[in-house]
Amino acid sequence: MIFDTIRFREALGHFATGVAIVTAVEDSAPFGVSVNSFTSVSLDPPLVAMCAAHTSTTWPRLRSAGAFCVNILSDGHESLCRRFARSGTDRFEGLDWRPSPRTRSPILAGVAAWLDCWLDAEYLAGDHTIIVAKVLELSYDSSREPLVFFRSRYRCLDAGRTA
Ligand SMILES: Cc1cc2nc3c(=O)[nH]c(=O)nc-3n(C[C@H](O)[C@H](O)[C@H](O)COP(=O)(O)O)c2cc1C
Repeated sequence: MIFDTIRFREALGHFATGVAIVTAVEDSAPFGVSVNSFTSVSLDPPLVAMCAAHTSTTWPRLRSAGAFCVNILSDGHESLCRRFARSGTDRFEGLDWRPSPRTRSPILAGVAAWLDCWLDAEYLAGDHTIIVAKVLELSYDSSREPLVFFRSRYRCLDAGRTA
């Protein structure tokens, strides 16, 4: 390789993404994790995907749950995103949420959209696993602006500007 991991990460950071929190329930207790590798895959059937690091302790729990909800974050959710990326804390402490209609996974208050999913397939890819999920139900709130992650920083869209 003629570039190191740091430069690779920095180059990829120039691709602006949204941020999502993937949630599920285990023994009646909610859990979840922040991801920005979320993407759409297929319209028919409706499939989405994300990548989980092999070091993630949340992914094995999502796999055994077999179902989860993808919560697409709004601007103002920066601290929520940080909270769901931090280890050793109760990420749901004091949080407002309700169960999704199909899988009973947590829908977080104020999200721009949510997708209630079943795990469909997984593929090993280097130090990550690509997770493909089938969308069973969804909703969105078009009045909300997204939380954007770009060059390792959280940003908000300037709603008044178009490209
Ligand atoms: C903005 C942002 C995006 C992230 N995206 C991913 C991701 O796509 N996949 C992943 O495995 N971890 C991602 N992480 C890291 C996880 O949120 C989390 O810190 C890591 O998985 C360790 O937590 P866990 O052991 O509970 O899974 C991201 C963190 C942040 C702050």
